[in-house]
Amino acid sequence: MFSLARNAVRPSRVARAARAFAAPSIVASLHTLPDLPYGYNALEPFISEEIMTLHHKKHHQTYVNGLNATEEAYAKGPSVKEQIALQAALKFNGGGHINHSLFWKNLAPANAGGGNLSDGPLKSAIENDFGSVEEFKAAFNAKTAAIQGSGWGWLGYNSTTKKLEIVTTLTRILFYVSHTPIIGVDIWEHAFYLQYKNVKPDYLNAIWNVINFKEAEKRLVEVQ
Ligand SMILES: [Fe+2]
Repeated sequence: MFSLARNAVRPSRVARAARAFAAPSIVASLHTLPDLPYGYNALEPFISEEIMTLHHKKHHQTYVNGLNATEEAYAKGPSVKEQIALQAALKFNGGGHINHSLFWKNLAPANAGGGNLSDGPLKSAIENDFGSVEEFKAAFNAKTAAIQGSGWGWLGYNSTTKKLEIVTTLTRILFYVSHTPIIGVDIWEHAFYLQYKNVKPDYLNAIWNVINFKEAEKRLVEVQ
């Protein structure tokens, strides 16, 4: 997959021209794994070093590789049937790459502001829309824990209703058309099982200690 991806950013002039003519809608590009903004052990004891290392280096890297390979396949000018077949891979790997890139940034070590929600626009909006921060966390955890199988729990901003809303998505299906993601929590087993086994509520209770509310507030202010 890497060689495919590398070729994708160094095409010959002829290949580039052919590619632009054959498949102008999606241009192959090399996506890369973003660095974590903190150390692998920085979220302990709430999320273990082992989980963070595997989650970032293995799982997220796999989505990046898959996305690059999918875009490379698109760039070869597939038939309509082939393009339709590629959409599942694009959604799975592209969604995985986007979601995890957001996820790393919406976490922060507890000794570097993680878990701290100061007075400001985000706290006010949460209190307006959910009653209190504690009621919001309880509602978020209940809805996210209820996902059957793999998925994500989100605090999203609905630009139509102008409200913060809790949304869950299955697998990689994105909700970005209807909402702007403010906080996302990965509830795939790879995100918690090594530490919390099958007890999703313990993972969900713990993760609030390392949520980067400053980043969440920045996302909210940008979209409001
Ligand atoms: Fe994940």
